[in-house]
Amino acid sequence: MSSEQFHKITKGEPPRELAKKIIKYINNDCLILDCGSGAGNDAIFFASQGYKVIALDKETKVLENRLKSLSDIKDRITVIESDIMDFEFKEIGCFYSSLTLSFLSRKNFYILWSNIRHKLKKHSVIGINIFGNRDEWFRETDDMTFMDKEEFASLFTGFTILEFLEKEKLGTCMGENGMTKDKKWHIFECIAKL
Ligand SMILES: C[S@@+](CC[C@H](N)C(=O)[O-])C[C@H]1O[C@@H](n2cnc3c(N)ncnc32)[C@H](O)[C@@H]1O
Repeated sequence: MSSEQFHKITKGEPPRELAKKIIKYINNDCLILDCGSGAGNDAIFFASQGYKVIALDKETKVLENRLKSLSDIKDRITVIESDIMDFEFKEIGCFYSSLTLSFLSRKNFYILWSNIRHKLKKHSVIGINIFGNRDEWFRETDDMTFMDKEEFASLFTGFTILEFLEKEKLGTCMGENGMTKDKKWHIFECIAKL
């Protein structure tokens, strides 16, 4: 399934729990980067709470169309169509990424993580999740990134951990044809401060 198809199906879904949690830890004037913003459900949520947001995704048509009818908040959302690997981290106070970073190769994930560690301002807040090694999609591969608990936790060495969660559950996902199908999920999630 293409990103655009996924965005068409998921547009209008409620914000992710991670999005609702992270705003407890950031100030009103904090600029949020929503990395892999998809249909924009979380970016729209952040903007509706008064935050300025950069919604970055390699495919942004669906979100751009949605914003045309959201005149009350659209000025707070800057949409950037780009690969995350090309993004410059200036001015960001919060790096947020839901269900996206596992789609990077391990090499790119660690380049990005090094940028997060070294280029984000001190006290920036980071909220991410990564697929775990018991996820149904887990495979030994270099083109996606899965982690065990030890590796995921080690990302945050030197950070202040605000929330850490491991979720393992039977649920559903979107199949190639856009229909939902059963899936075993295993996800690590963390909100931390630099
Ligand atoms: C599974 S979707 C998650 C979307 C949204 N964050 C959510 O929680 O529903 C992953 C998103 O990441 C985007 N994406 C994947 N790799 C990317 C990259 N290298 N640069 C920018 N966006 C990327 C895809 O286009 C897609 O919108």
